[in-house]
Amino acid sequence: MTWLLAFWRSSIGGKATMAVTGLLLFGFVVAHLLGNLQLLAGPEKLNAYAKMLHDLGPLLWVARIGLLLVFALHVATAIRLSRHNKAARPVAYAREATLQADFASRSMVLSGLSLLVFVVYHLLHFTLGVTNPEHFAKKAQGAGGFDVYSMVTASFANPAIATAYAAFMLVLFLHLKHGIQSLGQTLGFHHGRYTPWLKTLSFLLAAALAGGNAFLALSVQLGIVGGKL
Ligand code: HEM
Repeated sequence: MTWLLAFWRSSIGGKATMAVTGLLLFGFVVAHLLGNLQLLAGPEKLNAYAKMLHDLGPLLWVARIGLLLVFALHVATAIRLSRHNKAARPVAYAREATLQADFASRSMVLSGLSLLVFVVYHLLHFTLGVTNPEHFAKKAQGAGGFDVYSMVTASFANPAIATAYAAFMLVLFLHLKHGIQSLGQTLGFHHGRYTPWLKTLSFLLAAALAGGNAFLALSVQLGIVGGKL
């Protein structure tokens, strides 16, 4: 156990932890978006999907706890690495590249913390029903207690909620764009020939994931889903 802690504390161990946990969280965001896209297919599809997840029973809880642990490890390692970088920083910047790297890592910490705020809000909103109990109640009222469609469309019919979700997706875009690029570099794609490809790929993946979610958040306002409730 102590060697694992020592590895996590090392610079390479910290980077490896960020890469593995980042990849797992990326996988979650892909899977979650694919599930959320059922919103476009209508209430039956989305509610059947929600029921299928719920019917996983204990397995769902294993996945939830695993996700929480991965998320906590990602945040804790990011905080440790950023403290470590600050402590190791020279008094004056000798090279422009150092300045750029410092700005990028600081903006990653900032966008990451904003995403933490988003996830807490999102859980209070759709999973725990604290922020808008009137929307959360719609979930239990219809479709055998799995009317996630009514809950989500009622929420996104509120322009403030829809705009807040879309704004957070802009933060998700920035975080993913840089995160995917960093992951590529950690995996060794740090070469003159690959760097432009990696930049394009991270831009496209981040735009598809964050854009897809932002589109769903705005879909009711745009009149594509549900109609204003
Ligand atoms: C427009 C975009 C999104 C929609 C419509 C959406 C919808 C939902 C819904 C309906 C639930 C609750 C499911 C239920 O309890 O029945 C949920 C849970 C969750 N969402 Fe989202 N989500 C969106 C974006 C995101 C993003 C971008 C993230 C992460 C960065 C995220 C992370 C989570 C997490 C961690 C849970 C809890 C999972 C669980 O308890 O099983 N969501 N989402």
